[in-house]
Amino acid sequence: MALDVTDHAAVIAFCDEREIGLVVIGPEAPLVDGLSDSLRAANVPTFGPSQAAAQLEGSKGFTKDLCARAGIPTAGYVRTASLADARAALARFQPPYVLKADGLAAGKGVVIAETLADAEAALADMFGGGFGGAGAQVVIEEFMQGEEASFFALTDGTTILPFGSAQDHKRVGDGDVGPNTGGMGAYSPAPVLTPELQARVMAEIIEPTVRTMREDGNPYSGVLFAGLMLTAEGPKLIEYNARFGDPECQVLMMRLESDLVGILLACANGELAGVEARFADQTALTVVMAANGYPGTPDKGGAIDLSDAEAHGAKVFHAGTALVDGVLVAKGGRVLNVTATGASATEAQRKAYAAVDAINFPTGFCRRDIGQKEVAREAAREGRAV
Ligand code: AMP
Ligand code: GLY
Repeated sequence: MALDVTDHAAVIAFCDEREIGLVVIGPEAPLVDGLSDSLRAANVPTFGPSQAAAQLEGSKGFTKDLCARAGIPTAGYVRTASLADARAALARFQPPYVLKADGLAAGKGVVIAETLADAEAALADMFGGGFGGAGAQVVIEEFMQGEEASFFALTDGTTILPFGSAQDHKRVGDGDVGPNTGGMGAYSPAPVLTPELQARVMAEIIEPTVRTMREDGNPYSGVLFAGLMLTAEGPKLIEYNARFGDPECQVLMMRLESDLVGILLACANGELAGVEARFADQTALTVVMAANGYPGTPDKGGAIDLSDAEAHGAKVFHAGTALVDGVLVAKGGRVLNVTATGASATEAQRKAYAAVDAINFPTGFCRRDIGQKEVAREAAREGRAV
């Protein structure tokens, strides 16, 4: 049955009728739209932050201001509300210029401009409505140099449970070239986030965020997904997501050994204290197969044959597929997540690509270098060539 998530009354009626015991809100739009508040008010146990707390993802300016107040390491920034202010503020930054539409923009709200002219053109586009309502305000920030990694924590507003790390591959092309996407692949854990760095991320970023949100009267309950830049001065926050990422979620779930529902219910009920999450000591790696044309307009309707893909222990998650007259076809941009686990990133990568190679999807493509940074580090440690 198809439910319209913007119709909160319909979602509540569905939950009542089916006696739903837990709702997990996946994407950002219904979180920012306050679906969790509506469900909780109707006594439906719900995993996901309130509308007020989801501003951590819904407004880049909100998060930057919170970081400034709480002393959380992040790029220096200016929040601007008009094209004139924004153009004037550019003078305070060096290229490359990092420009961010304040609101939700489906991962497309960030522009990194190499020149002043490009930055001015991007600002004109943002304030001119090119990003819809998301561009009513624009954050301009310092460019940070380093490797990116993601850190996850569950919180019920008070207790915080670290929930693993991952590394995403945002650009569409091998070697991190081309436009940004929702994510072309990921692996977990991300060993660049060493135990020492994870302790710093908890103490310097996650804990002050959760504490400040609580003190402000907006306790954050759900998963906090911190996008981090590992700079020479230490980890700095790039942005928060108020949800498990896609495809980060897939690799975290492949490793999770504890009961997910029990953990999410404890979180939803404010009972996270004493709860543990056990992850397999293995690397999980997922390769996204997308339809040709993505992240622009994807080719839809191309047939997919998956018959041999899971033969060697890989797992294929469906993201944008449909069955038409018994034939599996592509119906979205990102279509499949081909996922495998192994004792190392090298092994997980080999198994995931063996499964990719067993898939027949002529109108699709994937990156061939998911996990390559970690595979290269493993090879270097073992004195092998990659
Ligand atoms: P976001 O949507 O905020 O995650 O930004 C998308 C991508 O832009 C990030 O994954 C980074 O690669 C890049 N980015 C965002 N902010 C910065 C920054 N201040 N310095 C360097 N790169 C950034
Ligand atoms: N893969 C990044 C995200 O889901 O936002």
